[in-house]
Order: sequence, then structure tokens, then C-alpha cells
Amino acid sequence: MDRRTFVEQSVKLAALTAVSGQVLAARAPGLSFSQIPLPYAKEALEPSIDAMTMDIHYSKHHAAYVKNVNDAITDEKISVEREVDFFANIQKYSAKARNNGGGAWNHNFFWLNLAPAQAAVAPGSKVLDALTGAFGSFDKFKEQFTQAAMTRFGSGWAWLVKEGSQLKVGSTPNQDNPLMSVSELKGTPLLALDVWEHAYYLKYQNKRNEYVANWWSVVNWNEVASRLG
Ligand SMILES: [Fe+2]
Repeated sequence: MDRRTFVEQSVKLAALTAVSGQVLAARAPGLSFSQIPLPYAKEALEPSIDAMTMDIHYSKHHAAYVKNVNDAITDEKISVEREVDFFANIQKYSAKARNNGGGAWNHNFFWLNLAPAQAAVAPGSKVLDALTGAFGSFDKFKEQFTQAAMTRFGSGWAWLVKEGSQLKVGSTPNQDNPLMSVSELKGTPLLALDVWEHAYYLKYQNKRNEYVANWWSVVNWNEVASRLG
């Protein structure tokens, strides 16, 4: 092979490699999770939730769930397009897909649930009427929700959900959520509280009750109202 032929073939081979590399690197169309940008500064929820907890929670824990679920979707060739279909069929997939898919989705939901204490507003009449109708009063709703958060053994989430026209309070273990086929609690999530120790341990240590009590002052009730429909 003369030098000119060698150079031409090398150029063609390089071009071919680049093209096949692109093809291999391209994701099949389908579901992919991502982190929403936080809609407030990491210190904005103090003193209820401290900045360091927010930083680690968002940048480490949540980021890992998102990476790991996307890896699982690729590895398992999961081809659903929508998050709701992914969760409605979650029993078909691996524990990695279930745990990290829940972790990815639940945290995006949770960040939107929160509002800086200075900007937090009391629930409006739409939310108050709905909660009073379902639970007897706003305070009784808070009691039930707090009980769900406190009695979830180990790691998990407390939820307010709407199933049909009914509002319900309950909890899920680990990173399960009420959209999952495997969840006992089912419905459209309206409000969620992360009761994993990673959500509060730096500031509150073992005092989950204090974390839950202080969390009420950073709930974004406008978000709950918009989800109520
Ligand atoms: Fe969390």
C-alpha cells in the first residue's frame, strides 16, 4: 500500500469510526429522567431545612437516583415513553429501576412542594375546603399526615393523594410512590414529604418529629392547589 492510499484509507476509517461511535452513543428514543433546577437557593428554606442538607440531598442523592435510573432504562431496554407508564408497569423492571426511578421522580416532586419560608403562604380556600371536606379540618389533616410521616418505619415518604374524587393520606416505603403498580397507596400525588434520614439527619439527627413539624412552614400550598385541579 502506498502512502497516499494508506492516508486515504485511514481518513475513511476515522470517519466511519466517528459515525458508528455516534450511532452507538445515541440513546434510543424513550424515557429519560432529569433533575429540575431548584426553584430557590439552597439556603432559602432555612431554618426549617438547612443549606448543607439541601446541597447534599440535591447534588448527591437526587443526582445519583437520576443517573442510576437512566442507566437501568438503557440496560433493561425499557421502551415506555412516559413516566406514568414506567411507574404503572414498575413490577416488570429491576429493583434498580424501581428504587432509582422513584428516587428521581419523588425528589423533583418534593422540590416543587417547597417554598422559602418568607414566601410561603397559608393554604388558600380551595385547598382548605378540600382538606376540611376530606379530613374534618386542616388541623386534622396535619395530624394524619404527621402520623403517616412518623409511623413510616425506616426510609420512605408521606403523601397526600387524590384517587378519583377522594383525598387520602398515607406513606410508601423506600422510594416507592403512589403512581407505582406495586404501591398499596395509590392516587395522584398532591403533596409529599421525604422522611429518609438523608433529608434531615444533619440538622435534626434522630428527631424526625422536629423535622416534620418545621417542614410545614416551607410547604408550597400554591403548588398543592394547582395539583388539585
Ligand atoms: Fe431524599
